[in-house]
Amino acid sequence: MAEELSLMELLLTNREMSKWREERGRKGQIVGFVPTMGYLHQGHLALMEEALRRADRVAVSIFVNPTQFSPGEDLDEYPRDMERDLKLCRELGVHAVFAPETEEMYPAGFQTRVEVEKLTQNLCGLHRPDFFSGVTLVVTKLFCAVRPHLAVFGEKDFQQLVVVKRLSQDLNLGVEIIGHPIVREPDGLAMSSRNTYLSEDERRSALSLSRSLLAARKLVSEGERNAEVLVAQVKAMIESEPHTRIQYVQVVDEKTMMDLNEVTSGAVMALAVFVGEARLIDNMRLWPE
Ligand code: PAF
Repeated sequence: MAEELSLMELLLTNREMSKWREERGRKGQIVGFVPTMGYLHQGHLALMEEALRRADRVAVSIFVNPTQFSPGEDLDEYPRDMERDLKLCRELGVHAVFAPETEEMYPAGFQTRVEVEKLTQNLCGLHRPDFFSGVTLVVTKLFCAVRPHLAVFGEKDFQQLVVVKRLSQDLNLGVEIIGHPIVREPDGLAMSSRNTYLSEDERRSALSLSRSLLAARKLVSEGERNAEVLVAQVKAMIESEPHTRIQYVQVVDEKTMMDLNEVTSGAVMALAVFVGEARLIDNMRLWPE
């Protein structure tokens, strides 16, 4: 038993993953899961801590999923450091890491798709045509391998969280989906593996993302309700910084992901901005809590 607590298992195949899961089931243990694409940062570790609080055993997956990248996106450049990731997981007390190769997840002949329809139409779905079908496919496959009771996702990918909740419900996957608040650097920058792409200069410009969201929230607390006015303000703040190219800034309903003209209690402002080569996303609830 003591040995089981101190050793983290590295599982490379679906079969090994399923075997680990079966053993947990036999012992009546609650299994928590955190899917990641690796290059772990404090944001990921916070998701794992949440899973460790809620479950008896926690599995983390590390897999850079090719099906969620479109041609021309950063699949090849996506940062990777498996040794460091494994060390961080081990130190945190994670019980198993599932790190399959691409051929294990998508062997020759693979041809199945999983689509969540309406929730994926707006925001990132508009600009990254393959992103959500790739995410829903890989998350379904990972859930089938790990069969967790619960899984923790970050609110930075707010639309992803809403889509995965729908997926789990629609397909009766039986996984409780838990959202975890965005983890930020002390200066406000939302943590992301893609922050490593930023030069010092670009990183300074990237602070305009969280700063402008906070400014929008302040305007709402002062009585502004017009989404167009808020979007214009945020865009102006971001565009005044060098190296920035806005992909979208939108006010949407937190449940439907559809645009809102007026800020109401479920309003979220979401944005995607290229800072240099890095495509960064961030979001904030606009309604005062
Ligand atoms: O959020 C991510 O890192 C990825 O989209 C996920 C959920 C691990 C699927 O590849």
